[in-house]
Amino acid sequence: LPPTRELAARLSVSRTTVIAAYDRLIGEGFATARLGSGTYVENLAPARVDADGRRTSLRPRRIWRAVPPLPASLWSPAEFDFRPGVPDAQLFPYAAWRRLLGREFRPQSAGGGYGHPAGHPGLRDAIARHIGAARGARAAAEDVIVTNGTQQAVDLIARVLLAAGDRVAVEDPGYAPPRRLLASLGLRIAPIPVDGEGMLVDVIPAGTRLVYVSPSHHFPLGPSMSLQRRIALVGWANRNGAAIIEDDYDSEFRYSGRPIEPLQTLDTHGRVIYVGSFSKTMLPSLRLGFLVAPRSLRVALEAAKYVTDWHTPLQTQAAMARFIVDGLFARHIRRMRSVYRQRHQLVLEHLERSFGDVLDVIPSSVGLHLAAVARRATADQVRSIVVRALAAGVACQPLSMYAAGGAPLAGIVIGYGAIEAERIGEGLTRLRDCFEP
Ligand SMILES: Cc1ncc(COP(=O)(O)O)c(C=O)c1O
Repeated sequence: LPPTRELAARLSVSRTTVIAAYDRLIGEGFATARLGSGTYVENLAPARVDADGRRTSLRPRRIWRAVPPLPASLWSPAEFDFRPGVPDAQLFPYAAWRRLLGREFRPQSAGGGYGHPAGHPGLRDAIARHIGAARGARAAAEDVIVTNGTQQAVDLIARVLLAAGDRVAVEDPGYAPPRRLLASLGLRIAPIPVDGEGMLVDVIPAGTRLVYVSPSHHFPLGPSMSLQRRIALVGWANRNGAAIIEDDYDSEFRYSGRPIEPLQTLDTHGRVIYVGSFSKTMLPSLRLGFLVAPRSLRVALEAAKYVTDWHTPLQTQAAMARFIVDGLFARHIRRMRSVYRQRHQLVLEHLERSFGDVLDVIPSSVGLHLAAVARRATADQVRSIVVRALAAGVACQPLSMYAAGGAPLAGIVIGYGAIEAERIGEGLTRLRDCFEP
């Protein structure tokens, strides 16, 4: 800006007026004064205009540019839905759930005020019993914190244990939402390759503070982590003073073979935080999950839950507690296990019969999806196949979308949670046609 004396002369006003105007510009952030040099216009980001024609000057922090918004393909309905990770919402016991939920919305029910951040006492107890019986995990009710799904469990753990700049190891390929969450908190992500036995523990960088793994059923490839590798990982965490998040998201659905013990049962030094979800066994829309933490973290995790959202909706928690205690949960899992077992078998047979020349199925007998590696096609070619398939009414996912930093794998993930057995054959036949050039 011109010197105050010069501008005052040019405009024929008093210098006091110009000084007052400059002071105001400086006070509002439009200009800065540099001692002995003058007054300068601030380098302001140009104001933009949003869709409504309003000026928008607020900008998210740079870190959010690297966090992609939800992919549209997650929502778009498909005639044949082979997207992984979604249970069959048509077979959910709505009548029983409505009855239990209805009981919680009466004046005499206790759910009208704020609840305890750690969760509904009955649900914490029911979860502790369920994972003890179903998974052999060690937990008392006080060790359980009810969360809004796995995603919030990871958030609470990261808040309590880590500071921006800390390093976190994740599986590559791996489940993306927690990885993106951790990156958004300013943590440095170390993608660690996996082989048929799970994460390559030997290549976790020194100084890593937290490891996020899905040992019971690797997402998306499918194998379980070998006992040797699980022992190595817990040993590594002990030697390095690190924590492990064990994401046990779908192991209620196992169709053959012996269930593997959770990492948590191998942990003698309080390094493993076990995380579970009702998104596969019930519905993802309930946003209901939990974590089981070592006692040393309990108070801070409860405080983190309290400052984040106080608590998970009490009526949902109370209904879930009754659902478990009344035996409805075990019955629903039994029923769905037999439904999914049949679909798993059908998908497997069809892939082996009709895709043998283009795909190699990765053996797995847990959960709601199967992964297969392309025999010749590149990752880019598989992406095009998936796009063609969607246009033909078939939704599935390319393995490459789960790459966490390393080279994207060429392959495909086929979920069977949401597709009826009778439609699997036709859907996969259409998918097979998309492999032809
Ligand atoms: C590896 C993995 N963990 C956890 C979840 C469930 O997450 P949430 O409990 O936040 O719904 C999923 C769902 O697809 C998953 O694939």
